[in-house]
Amino acid sequence: MLDRLALREPELDNRLRESLERVEKCLSATASDAAAPRVAAITGHLAAAGGKRLRPLLVLLGAEFGEPWRDGIVEAAVVAELVHIASLHHDDVMDGAPTRHGVPSVHARFGERAAVFGGDWLLARAARLAAELGPEAVALNARTAGRLVAGQLRELTGPAPGEDPVTHYFQVTAGKTAALLSMSLGIGALQAGAPTGCVEALTEYGEHLGLAFQIADDLLDLRSPADVSGKERGTDLLAGVPTLPVLLALDGDDPADAELRALLRAGPVPAADAPRALELFARSPALAETEAVLRHRLDRARTALGALRPPAARRALLALCDYVALRTS
Ligand code: FPP
Ligand code: MG
Repeated sequence: MLDRLALREPELDNRLRESLERVEKCLSATASDAAAPRVAAITGHLAAAGGKRLRPLLVLLGAEFGEPWRDGIVEAAVVAELVHIASLHHDDVMDGAPTRHGVPSVHARFGERAAVFGGDWLLARAARLAAELGPEAVALNARTAGRLVAGQLRELTGPAPGEDPVTHYFQVTAGKTAALLSMSLGIGALQAGAPTGCVEALTEYGEHLGLAFQIADDLLDLRSPADVSGKERGTDLLAGVPTLPVLLALDGDDPADAELRALLRAGPVPAADAPRALELFARSPALAETEAVLRHRLDRARTALGALRPPAARRALLALCDYVALRTS
């Protein structure tokens, strides 16, 4: 992830790289320290497979706004990644995903029940580690895990009768994605003893960044070629996932989107219609509207940072916004 940001801050870049190495060691030890080796193989499977490690990076960047040399920051980064990995165990069962990070998903390798209990174990392990950091970390971790699960449940139940589907989308995404990004910045800043106003600004930034991250992901499904994004274009469309561009197309009354709306209203787009749907999306006002919503979220994230110091860490968070705006994978 750090490579993709290409920071022009050598001192910060070096410090982050060193800390990320320590995170990696601590994560690998923690995710697989279950007493029984056959259990450890399940709980350690995804940590060993890799990932962007975006959440640990956010914890380390949050800590830059206080005293990043304090104890417990690496452990806080591991808490955030453990919660993320736990949620992926469950998410891949829900989605029936065969792979994750280029390897068989946990349920594909060990079975669904093992994947679910393995996820629960990781969540419990994160809670144990948070307890070593203090009551604020415990509270943040508990609140965030609750938001993640509630977001997933909200997605499962769908919008209430009469509820605006776009509002519902933002509530689901705030829980599923933004909560943990925001918590990562917050727990890093707290652990480093950053002032309260600073912690608040960073968590607000994280909420907007999280929403932007998901919207960028929705856009990728419609326009990025598989060899770049690693995911077949139109996967969400075929699965009938109500992404933001789909919801905005369905919600609008622009005549330019009439054919697209008719295709989308019929339920998940059949494979034979997918090329046509993608072609219609490419010139759809709904796509332009989604891009505008993404830009707006990123602007709010940047604004939340204000004039936070130190400037190098602030510039790194601004670079993350630019990365999300230009995301191709
Ligand atoms: C990816 O979604 C999944 C998440 C961001 C989190 C899902 C949350 C849960 C399953 C609740 C359980 C949580 C805990 C803490 C145990 P996606 O399917 O949109 O993205 P993908 O393409 O990466 O799979
Ligand atoms: Mg999924």
